[in-house]
Amino acid sequence: MTTDQTVGQSVDQPAEAPVDGQPAVAAPSDGANIDAAPMADSVAAGDVPVAVQHPSGSGPERLINELRHHPHGGPQLPPVGVPEQDLDSLIPANRRRRSKLGLPTTSEPEILRHFGRLARRTFSLQEGLYPLGSCTMKYNPAINEALVRLDGFAQIHPYQPEDTVQGALRLLYELEEWLKEITGMDRISLQPAAGAHGEWTGLRIIQAYHRDQGEGAQRDTVLVPDSAHGTNPASATLAGLKSVTVKSTAQGLVDLDDYRSKLGPHVAAIMLTNPNTLGLFERDIAEIASLAHAAGALLYYDGANLNAMVGVARPADMGFDVVHLNLHKTFSTPHGGGGPGAGPCGVRDRLAAYLPVPTVEKREDAAASRYFLDWDRPQSIGKVRSFVGNFAVLVKAYAYMRAYGGDGLRQVAMDAVLNANYLKALLGRTFDIASSEPSMHEFVLTTKKAKDLGVRNIDLAKRLLDFGFYAPTVSFPLTVPEALMVEPTETESRETLDSFVAAVEQIWEEVQTNPDVVRHAPHETPVGRLDEVRAARHPKLTWRS
Ligand SMILES: Cc1ncc(COP(=O)(O)O)c(C=O)c1O
Repeated sequence: MTTDQTVGQSVDQPAEAPVDGQPAVAAPSDGANIDAAPMADSVAAGDVPVAVQHPSGSGPERLINELRHHPHGGPQLPPVGVPEQDLDSLIPANRRRRSKLGLPTTSEPEILRHFGRLARRTFSLQEGLYPLGSCTMKYNPAINEALVRLDGFAQIHPYQPEDTVQGALRLLYELEEWLKEITGMDRISLQPAAGAHGEWTGLRIIQAYHRDQGEGAQRDTVLVPDSAHGTNPASATLAGLKSVTVKSTAQGLVDLDDYRSKLGPHVAAIMLTNPNTLGLFERDIAEIASLAHAAGALLYYDGANLNAMVGVARPADMGFDVVHLNLHKTFSTPHGGGGPGAGPCGVRDRLAAYLPVPTVEKREDAAASRYFLDWDRPQSIGKVRSFVGNFAVLVKAYAYMRAYGGDGLRQVAMDAVLNANYLKALLGRTFDIASSEPSMHEFVLTTKKAKDLGVRNIDLAKRLLDFGFYAPTVSFPLTVPEALMVEPTETESRETLDSFVAAVEQIWEEVQTNPDVVRHAPHETPVGRLDEVRAARHPKLTWRS
């Protein structure tokens, strides 16, 4: 392979997070070279090199550009059917490429097989459990993918006149209504394209609010618990704010004394995930909210963990002023892989004027309801994403909510919590649980006793790949040594959870009897241990011949 790649890497894990003074991710084991040269053989057919692909798909895979370069290969397009024009009259000569574009010239079957082979080498939810803590890798109903491809959604264009896209606008309007009901917020913008983007949008809104209160310059700090997702302090920094860490108690909840000591007239907001990234419900949330408000700060809800609470509890009722949700976790879009996602940002009334433009509005005419985009919002922070956001993701979220209904969504949360607690009870027989607080949708194990035998958490995680399970998140949150964070989600059956437990128990047995087999895992995957830090920091995203 010529591209850098990772197997079993925690998406949420900061790549170089220190664990007991060591890098959180292991160095490549023998023979694992992320820059390995393409290994499919090449033979000459005339003067055109032709790649010989391993028919089983088990050998290394060439890039599509390397599969076959035939001057007459590739798709054959029919004549364009319009009069030809002199190129010079359309594009000045100094603006034109001098060399050929170098697009792959492979045939349709070759392309199909190339992607088929790649798909077989990639772990996905189609294959098995994906218990990646903090990521909510749940099964997303396939029907929503079909719905979003309906012509009425897939073939419309954002520049179409509003009159011709009334259905799409109505869908956006109603989606906002659902999300308002779920969060208790008064208005929601669907524009942000990811969770982190929603955080940044929310913080810009908070800054605009403080500015209009005459406190913009003074309130330059955001408080973030040490268990928070890394995007929280990153978003604060990107918004030009300082982030100050609030300590957790030994049980993993916000330390109220530390929190109190850091509040003051310089604080713009407190960012909080509830349940937090240890899967624990912040039971002091009412006090946290009233302390924030008494200090003139606003309370920000990182709603990426909403899967544990949807339909059961609402951030607005807990005192939050601003929220973002990860539709690509809770509402039917796969999470990970770089998107597309959607991180709608919701606010209470007093902040609604600052939401990004345009908002989607409804006007009741004599004959019918008309939906339109409102650009006339002078206090808005402006636009944060092109058009209305990632429309396809929004359609899937809408379809999912309509199919489940209010009671169904509540059941999602109940089952997510039930599954996590079932797994926690069984895995707790093998490894220690990081906190004795009750868990919500995920929990954290500490595998210190395996480390005492020379086997790290990442080794255990990699070994799970050999058993057909994706690896749990490792070494996050940073507050737990040798952390393995497990989130089974509501879509897994009891049989699947039981077989995961059996695999963990067998691996623990191996740690005690044959630790090398765990230390050098995985053994059954297309590639072995990779240099994940390098893959994350220096990905090769372009091809050069
Ligand atoms: C708690 C939490 N907050 C924020 C984010 C960031 O979301 P995104 O990856 O969409 O930017 C995540 C991602 O999973 C998360 O788990």
